[in-house]
Amino acid sequence: MDRDANTDSVKKYFYVTTPIYYVNDVPHIGHAYTSVAVDVIARFKRMDGCCVKFLTGTDEHGQKIARAAGKAGMPPKDFCDCVSGNFRDLTKALHLSNDDFIRTTEPRHMASAQALWRQLEASGNLYQGTYAGWYSTRDEAFVGNDEVKDGLAPSGAPVEWVEEAGYFFRLSDWQDKLLAFYDAHPEFIAPQSRRNEVVSFVKSGLRDLSISRCSISWGISVPGDPKHVMYVWIDALANYLSALGYPETSEEFLEFWAQSLHVVGKDIIRFHAVYWPAFLMAAGLAPPKKVFAHGWWTNDGQKISKSLGNVIDPHDLMNKYGLDQVRYFLMRNMPFGEDGNFSDGLITGRINSDLANDLGNTVQRVLTMVGKLSRDKIAYAQDDLAQEDRTLLKMGYGCLNDIRPMFDELSFEKVLKRIWNLIYDINKYIDHQAPWLLDKTDIERLKVVLAVLAEAVFLTALYIRPFMPGTADKIFDMLNVDNDLRFFKSVGVKRNFNGPFPKPIALFPRM
Ligand code: MSP
Repeated sequence: MDRDANTDSVKKYFYVTTPIYYVNDVPHIGHAYTSVAVDVIARFKRMDGCCVKFLTGTDEHGQKIARAAGKAGMPPKDFCDCVSGNFRDLTKALHLSNDDFIRTTEPRHMASAQALWRQLEASGNLYQGTYAGWYSTRDEAFVGNDEVKDGLAPSGAPVEWVEEAGYFFRLSDWQDKLLAFYDAHPEFIAPQSRRNEVVSFVKSGLRDLSISRCSISWGISVPGDPKHVMYVWIDALANYLSALGYPETSEEFLEFWAQSLHVVGKDIIRFHAVYWPAFLMAAGLAPPKKVFAHGWWTNDGQKISKSLGNVIDPHDLMNKYGLDQVRYFLMRNMPFGEDGNFSDGLITGRINSDLANDLGNTVQRVLTMVGKLSRDKIAYAQDDLAQEDRTLLKMGYGCLNDIRPMFDELSFEKVLKRIWNLIYDINKYIDHQAPWLLDKTDIERLKVVLAVLAEAVFLTALYIRPFMPGTADKIFDMLNVDNDLRFFKSVGVKRNFNGPFPKPIALFPRM
């Protein structure tokens, strides 16, 4: 409902995706991180008038999943149903606003992936051969001889020797075309450090890619040759197209695809920024508009892994700290694109200082004064505004133009710092204006000051809404703001706030 109420009449499309998560294990903080980041950008774009499609889902085929199912003593499909359910539950627990949840075992996806295969075949990009080389099941990746060190893939995953007949994609033919594409679209891979890494990988030479398996059966059959299943990465990448209805390429498909953003972890950039654009161009489609690779979390400085027993369960975090607190911490603690650390001390510090002190206290301070001193109606006339009022409102309205480009760069922590500057300015303004004194000396001036403060808090709620939707809505409720005004089209539009106002509640308990 929010979505349609706010879409501009000339539609601006935006398609944003998370990686689809392997169902070999329970969800952890890394999955929650990508998903929250994509949710924040999707919510921002919707509030800014775009028609958004936010896709997430699960990656359910391949050797890794087949083995995990075997270990659990379950048929693969039953196992996938069960674990995929955990990921779907996580989307709800995190209040993700995803428009779709795709599973690669769904018929709509399997048909779409096969259509992509046929297209690659028809364009002359596939041939049959034999793969003899290393394979890492944990990464689901074919690993070159030169990349294996001490029996391990570059990621540290064990490798095994594989020899099997199969299909190859002529990736080597795409080297120059990929380099020309990166040149023509400098914004395609972000951040810059990842772009450099990808460009030098491609420049170092590309080998043809094995894209089928015949020693496993848990996968999508190769069209016309059911002894083989598709290599899980071509199956998985195709999810981004299946959810848009491929092979149908409707007008809407093309609009979304032209504005597509894949957010992925740094470990899977090669699949998204090398293989995927090559497959797409080979199939006659444009590559996505942008691939952004974020960094990894460590736990108290240590790599997170099952064997170290330090995996962080997002449900535990939310139970302990609260949903919006976790969402805020994930987006604020480290610049998106860089690695960062999790510790209880860090999240507690952020909650106490940024949320309880800065945001929570400021909002409560203003709303308590509004409730006590406003006499139930808050409005001002433009002519009544003093210079300081105008300065604070300008700071509040200007925030939107400042944060738009930061959102386009996915600099979430910069956006939050900019919003926090507004919060600091609100506090300074309160201290200078001292409304509790005006209540005794100048009621007309008090009305203006309260109106400016209510407006500034309203703007703050708007800007934090993509990050902390529940908290923002609590603030709107305390100011009696209608649902259809909770969008950026309200920025800069003069409004009245009408009481009686509910008694303000504390937004964040101190930890
Ligand atoms: N199934 C593939 C993606 C296919 S997309 C067409 C996959 N799945 S995954 O479940 O293993 O990983 C999903 C995402 O979680 C990756 O983007 C990965 O970078 C991210 N993370 C896994 N551990 C992480 C951290 N410790 N920190 C941050 N993100 C991490 O790869």
